[in-house]
Amino acid sequence: MINVALPKGRLGNQVYKILEAAGYECPELLDSSSRKLVFENADRGVRYFCVKPTDVHVYVERGAADVGIVGKDDLLEYAPEVYELLDLKLGKCRMCICGPAGFEEDRSCTLKVATKFPHIARHYYEELGRDIDIIKLHGSIELAPILGLSDVICDLVETGTTLRENNLVVLSEVVPISARFICNPVAWQFRHEEIGHMKHALEERIGKGE
Ligand code: PRP
Repeated sequence: MINVALPKGRLGNQVYKILEAAGYECPELLDSSSRKLVFENADRGVRYFCVKPTDVHVYVERGAADVGIVGKDDLLEYAPEVYELLDLKLGKCRMCICGPAGFEEDRSCTLKVATKFPHIARHYYEELGRDIDIIKLHGSIELAPILGLSDVICDLVETGTTLRENNLVVLSEVVPISARFICNPVAWQFRHEEIGHMKHALEERIGKGE
């Protein structure tokens, strides 16, 4: 049985569809009225866990799941000890520094940066040799510069709608982000054939519009 940590939501559904088409189906998983979190198809040798997207890497690193689907943002932020097997080229967005239009940085002051990703933000500004004060938030990051809590934010931008509707703009791009297929290193060693088969199934269909 391969244990798969699937992120709840649209990305997880997209990846599941591909796995379903590749023979790893588990029809129960599509029942939206269900509150179940574990779905198993013993005949196909697969068990899915539906978890919060930011928890996927924890399940995989600890070996509770053999494989999982996670955003590159979480891999950069938490640096889990997992193997990144595949760029799924789904859930594409950009990690960006954003702020009010026309924002001019006062380099004599410590820059206040609000973010859900303190490690990524710190690393980005360290490379620039810039002192920053990180303000860790858990959501609605765009509010921070509007209310004067921070000067800028370090956050994900997908369509840009949230920025536009809040009169903010991208000031610089930190790194492009997409979903990755990850694997527990021990599982990769001992269940190489089964997991390799699943990787191949995903690889076959990714980038072909599925
Ligand atoms: C994410 C991100 C931005 C928004 C970007 O937030 O933090 O706020 O999506 O998407 P857009 O460019 O398409 O507008 P999310 O929806 O995950 O909610 P959050 O504010 O609670 O983090």
